[in-house]
Amino acid sequence: MNNSETDVEKLELIYRPRRLRINPILREMVEETKLSASDFIYPMFICEGEKVSLDISSMPGIFRQSIDMALKEMEATLKTGVHSVILFGIPDKKDALGTGAYSSDGIVQRAVRAAKKAFGDDLLVVTDVCLCEYTDHGHCAPVRDGRILNDEGVFMHCKTALSQVEAGADVVAPSDMMDGRVGAIRETLDEAGFTETPILAYSAKYASAFYGPFRDAADSAPRFGDRRSYQMNPANAEAALREVALDIEEGADIVMVKPALPYLDIIRRVKDNFNVPVAAYNVSGEYALVKAAAKQGWIDHDRVMMESLTSIKRAGASIILTYFAKDAARLLADG
Ligand code: PBG
Repeated sequence: MNNSETDVEKLELIYRPRRLRINPILREMVEETKLSASDFIYPMFICEGEKVSLDISSMPGIFRQSIDMALKEMEATLKTGVHSVILFGIPDKKDALGTGAYSSDGIVQRAVRAAKKAFGDDLLVVTDVCLCEYTDHGHCAPVRDGRILNDEGVFMHCKTALSQVEAGADVVAPSDMMDGRVGAIRETLDEAGFTETPILAYSAKYASAFYGPFRDAADSAPRFGDRRSYQMNPANAEAALREVALDIEEGADIVMVKPALPYLDIIRRVKDNFNVPVAAYNVSGEYALVKAAAKQGWIDHDRVMMESLTSIKRAGASIILTYFAKDAARLLADG
């Protein structure tokens, strides 16, 4: 550039937003959203066996692990500063009623007992309450003549939640989307004396194509039909507010929106309309997209990961369930 181009008269601006962006210390000082390792819940897949750690091809870095290996993974997770996990079970046998979900020696129940024994109060153990990983038809409730049975499903989710809490789970997270399950689970836990165990409700859970890799991992894809008669229509936002209102009335302590990134508007509306903590699930497909593009060298993995997580928090979620939890916590610790 020659002098005639740079030697211009200064603009008379009262406010110059760049003033707060030029100095890096000041930039950090005025940062509105700060991620922290304590925001994250790390999802884990627990399977039968010993010394098992199986890759999930569509979710690089995430494994199906037997309980012994999962304990090692929990220890590594704690070292990153993440103090919470959510457990999903992958049983060896599935049946029509998903009995593995509520058996006192089910895979998740045993994993919870082992985790609480090993880590006590250092680790918050959340359990997913759902039948789809345990039913041979892959639906989240029992099925008769091709119909999903709501109230029978609720009955089984109550048994599942209770058995998980009896095993030591700190928080239960119903993800089935049957009507009335939060209230019924609350009543079941209260009657059994577990009045202080919180419910993290998957309240606005959409029928999303972003769950694909999870269903590979958990072998939980429906064998017939789809989940659109119980999970929400991605086109609906008002319906999410109704679901959240119902769950809060029924006793949900934390409400969740799932998936996260395609539903940031829902997270924000829930945050603005209710006064309970909001969680968001940055789901398997959201994770897989970043991993795949990064592997191609098309995007910067770490920056896209942090920008995504920051946007979820900025939208209003104070709790984020994410497969990135360990990686993001490590980055945060390294500054
Ligand atoms: C169980 C459940 C699912 C997920 C969490 N709990 C799958 C589904 O509803 O099909 C998806 C999580 C993810 O994709 O990471 N109902």
